Amino acid sequence: MSRKPLIAGNWKMHLSVAQAVELARGLAAEADKHQDREVMLAPAFIALDAVHKAISDSKTFLAAQNVAWAEEGAFTGEVSAPMLRDVGVAMAIIGHSERRQIFGEDDAMINRRIHGALAGGIIPVFCIGETLEQREAEQTFKVLEGQLSAGLADCTAEMVARMVIAYEPVWAIGTGKTASKEQAQEVHGYIRQLLLQKYEKKVAEAVRIVYGGSVKPDNVDALMAQADIDGALVGGAALKFESFARIINFK
Ligand code: 13P
Repeated sequence: MSRKPLIAGNWKMHLSVAQAVELARGLAAEADKHQDREVMLAPAFIALDAVHKAISDSKTFLAAQNVAWAEEGAFTGEVSAPMLRDVGVAMAIIGHSERRQIFGEDDAMINRRIHGALAGGIIPVFCIGETLEQREAEQTFKVLEGQLSAGLADCTAEMVARMVIAYEPVWAIGTGKTASKEQAQEVHGYIRQLLLQKYEKKVAEAVRIVYGGSVKPDNVDALMAQADIDGALVGGAALKFESFARIINFK
């Protein structure tokens, strides 16, 4: 059984359309040098169409940073899975801690978004993670179990097998404090155990669990060497060609 590593860049609310297109072109060419790994780029909504046109002849996957649960309707500010498919989007980040903390998205809403994505043929990159307070109170596993169960409510094994799960400890996002490779592996192993308990072994072994939180060129190799770390979800270091190319080229 082998899981193909996924190196994903979340550009958050950064870059103009022109900057996104230029960066995506360079990174997609870098990514195409490899057969043994996949690369995903998540620009802001306004850049999706232009980035798709720039990289559609590459193997790089285009992702949105969120997705609506409904197909269409009166949902001001939202973008649906069919709309995203229409501009070449294959994947969507769902449940990012910034959506949870700044925009008040809760587990139930995230679950609806996951269902909306899958119904529209978009692969969810489902994010979970504990805060520093929760970690210090030794609540990490309990919090993750809660987020995972609620986010995956009413998902069949077949649906879960199609997803990517991102472990992003909130205290490591944008802080320069990476989880150590041991801390990250411990949690990834725990998440895989949970998947094993809830679904079949086949599902637990197929789902990619990627790590996010201050992934940089100088820590990516050690993180990627861990048994249950199947990729990286990168914020700050994905905004510059040199640093993200080095992360794509992890050893
Ligand atoms: P940083 O890599 O900037 O810590 O961000 C991680 C993240 O939130 C990716 O989704």
